[in-house]
Amino acid sequence: MNGGLEGVVAADTSLTHVDGSKGILWVRGHTPQELIAKFGYEGAVALLWEGLAGSGLTRDGMRRELGRARLTAFAELPRWIEAARGRPLGDAVRLCLAALPDDSAPAMIAAALPVGVAALLRQRSGISPVAPDPGLTVAADFLRMLRGEAAPAPIAAALDAYLTTVIDNGFAASTFAARVIASTRASLVAAILGGYCALTGPLHGGAPGPVLDMLDEIGSREAIDAWLDKSLAMGERLMGFGHRVWRVRDPRADALKGALERLGPDAGRIAFAEEVERRALAALHRRKPDRPLETNVEFYTALLLDAVGLPREAFTPVFALARTPGWLAHAMEQQKTGRLIRPAANYIGPRPQAA
Ligand code: COA
Repeated sequence: MNGGLEGVVAADTSLTHVDGSKGILWVRGHTPQELIAKFGYEGAVALLWEGLAGSGLTRDGMRRELGRARLTAFAELPRWIEAARGRPLGDAVRLCLAALPDDSAPAMIAAALPVGVAALLRQRSGISPVAPDPGLTVAADFLRMLRGEAAPAPIAAALDAYLTTVIDNGFAASTFAARVIASTRASLVAAILGGYCALTGPLHGGAPGPVLDMLDEIGSREAIDAWLDKSLAMGERLMGFGHRVWRVRDPRADALKGALERLGPDAGRIAFAEEVERRALAALHRRKPDRPLETNVEFYTALLLDAVGLPREAFTPVFALARTPGWLAHAMEQQKTGRLIRPAANYIGPRPQAA
């Protein structure tokens, strides 16, 4: 029984191609590096939504549409934000998505988290939310709404590279969950809320915070090997390594590492992290020589989000913010097929006596 559905092809898609054995990721035919350099986040959203949420979509047009939608999302904040006060951030983000009207357009759904997450983080510090600037990119405006002032351009560019890199990754568990929900003809809001819930687990989108915890716990170069050996001997999983699909190095890890390196001295502890990565890969190989375990996207995600000044608890919500347009594209593609996803199960329970 293939309980994790490894390798099972569940649908045709024209959105993203993932070949984990060759290290290939194409979003509508573009590599992560191309997306970062030529399209940016709004351009990547336009690519993914083309033919699904309109036609002739452009980077500039998408920037304007998402900017307008952020203004509407900001006007809606009072409807739900008080209910989030005092709740853990993950619960509060769930409330933010759940508060969207069921018939929300894709841009409105995509705008909910940049505005909502920034406002929630400020609420936790006891400060009032900052209104969006619809002329900015999602990355620049999210940082501005969070900090109360414009972020330096290289920091906004690094966040834009992150959002662009993780916008879609084939049939990830969260994406598949969103497609299953959309296949029942439930709303796009329902599909995205379901996708978000699937993302929050540590085996999916919950890993980057623990990557930083690991680097903190290791603390120094001298302690790396002993820490890794102890963890692996206790049967623990090293966060930021291994993947269901990527059997060679995840190309997104290098795209993010490049974005981090462009930050220069702001890149934080990249040299130490590289050393941990090198020794972790060696330790994993010693323990599991037959199992290709490589660095996954979360390792450099953690370093990048830390370097742009985001608190650890925001890492998974920001991943969700980045991925929402990808979930939406998949949910819309699924809706177009009109086909309900309803697999079968192999029954292994008791039988009636007469049978
Ligand atoms: N550290 C240590 N061992 C690992 C490991 C890791 N990060 N990832 C997988 N393994 C080991 C498992 O313990 C298992 O060993 P076993 O056969 O002796 O039980 C073997 O490799 C295969 O594990 P499996 O669960 O089948 O791998 P998977 O492909 O289903 O799992 C992940 C993929 C992502 C769930 C897994 O690699 C993991 O938990 N990684 C850490 C969390 C993480 O970084 N998540 C973010 C993903 S983008």
